[in-house]
Amino acid sequence: MSVNRLTSRNIGSVARIGPNDLMTNDPDILRRMSSARSKYGRSHWYEVAKLNPYLHSVGSEPDEKRHQELRTKLSAGYSGKEIPDFEGIVDKHVLELVDLIERKYISDGTDIRPCDVARKIQYFTLDTITDIAFGEPFGDVPADEDVHRYIQTIEDMFPLMFILQGIPGALKVMQAMQRNAWLSPLIMPSHTDRAGFGTMMGLAKRIVAERFGPNKKEKPDQLGSFIRHGLTQEEAEGETLLQITAGSDTTAGGIRSTIMHLITQPTAFNRLRQEISEAEKNNRISKPIISNAEARALPYLQACIKEGLRLLPPVTSLLSKKVPPGGDILDGKFVPEGTDVGYCAWSVHRNKAVFGEDAECFRPQRWLEASPEQLVRMDQTAELIFGYGRYGCLGRVLALTELNKVIVEVSLDDLLVAQRLLRPTNRARHIFAAVSPVRFCDNKSYTPVELQDD
Ligand code: HEM
Repeated sequence: MSVNRLTSRNIGSVARIGPNDLMTNDPDILRRMSSARSKYGRSHWYEVAKLNPYLHSVGSEPDEKRHQELRTKLSAGYSGKEIPDFEGIVDKHVLELVDLIERKYISDGTDIRPCDVARKIQYFTLDTITDIAFGEPFGDVPADEDVHRYIQTIEDMFPLMFILQGIPGALKVMQAMQRNAWLSPLIMPSHTDRAGFGTMMGLAKRIVAERFGPNKKEKPDQLGSFIRHGLTQEEAEGETLLQITAGSDTTAGGIRSTIMHLITQPTAFNRLRQEISEAEKNNRISKPIISNAEARALPYLQACIKEGLRLLPPVTSLLSKKVPPGGDILDGKFVPEGTDVGYCAWSVHRNKAVFGEDAECFRPQRWLEASPEQLVRMDQTAELIFGYGRYGCLGRVLALTELNKVIVEVSLDDLLVAQRLLRPTNRARHIFAAVSPVRFCDNKSYTPVELQDD
């Protein structure tokens, strides 16, 4: 109820959502809590974000000093600067994705081949992050399947995780069970498991083990960079798991949202198509794949990606921070120390005062026509999609590189075709995509949309 009230009525920018929990849609409060000098810390919410039950990673570490130390060891690898062929690796996987769709999912009048584009994008982001992270792509796109059953595992695991994140009492019960010598082996995943999250822990253990010891392999990937910057074997296992989970579904969500909004909005689609065609004519798009720098120089493309991320932010969790000793004043009211203050993503990114009266609409043009002052405000707010300051997303560069390339390459080859769906032709070749305009992120529930090739 509070979330709806925050989004729909003018009741202030902070709402109470639990005995010790507040939620805010004020971008300034959110930035202040995560800024470099903030005295706020991570709340219990991050306890549940701990992927390896026995060890914190950078994404959940509650000790601020250790969190900062970890970020220092990881930053060079995440920035891509220590990976010689960072962009080339992304290119390889984009081309595989385009190839998969063209090779397997081009239908003709009698042979209809439905394609769950949302799932293929998940395969693509998983292959890309596993290649960049430790040089062993899962190979989901070439195999056209969830090779390690990772997607199935997180679909089983995340609902429970989200419940535990929302109910502090439930987490305490779970932690007590974890500490019990008899119960723990029954409920906790182990790297020796043959199914579930334990298999991912086993995979991370095996990959990291090869980088340590007398016969250690040295590779020019993110893991190689982390180890060169001092990550221990145990820490590296935790970070490898985090890379897979933080770096796949998030980016997939951003790509899906941008694609879904584009193929359902002809005006925006045509405008993007025009920008890409002009850039092609002027040799501003490399072959066989657009470079990241070229994509960043296409203003309308950038606006489309910003709108896609804004309307369906890939991370909508609370990400609560804890009010420091002495309390704080939020929205004019005193808030006692120890209170958890969470992020209301939906409301932040649909705020009419920031994005305009039509904030609920996908209108990329807003980013191009805003006044300089308004644009600063919009950019500062949208920045929160990737977190902020000392908790800011370390994979932002990779995520945006993937988005830049996929939207151009898949949109040129396939989305253009989707656009024609709105004006069906008699031509014989078709691609079928399964896309839910309502629940695009939910692979299990979708409405088929016919994509026509010429
Ligand atoms: C569109 C895609 C993505 C979005 C929207 C996104 C968003 C976020 C958000 C909101 C946070 C948490 C901020 C907080 O705790 O306050 C975060 C943290 C993080 N993300 Fe991303 N992310 C994306 C892609 C990626 C990718 C591709 C990677 C690569 C593995 C990645 C790695 C990380 C890491 C390591 C952290 C933890 C940073 C820390 O706690 O210091 N993310 N991200």
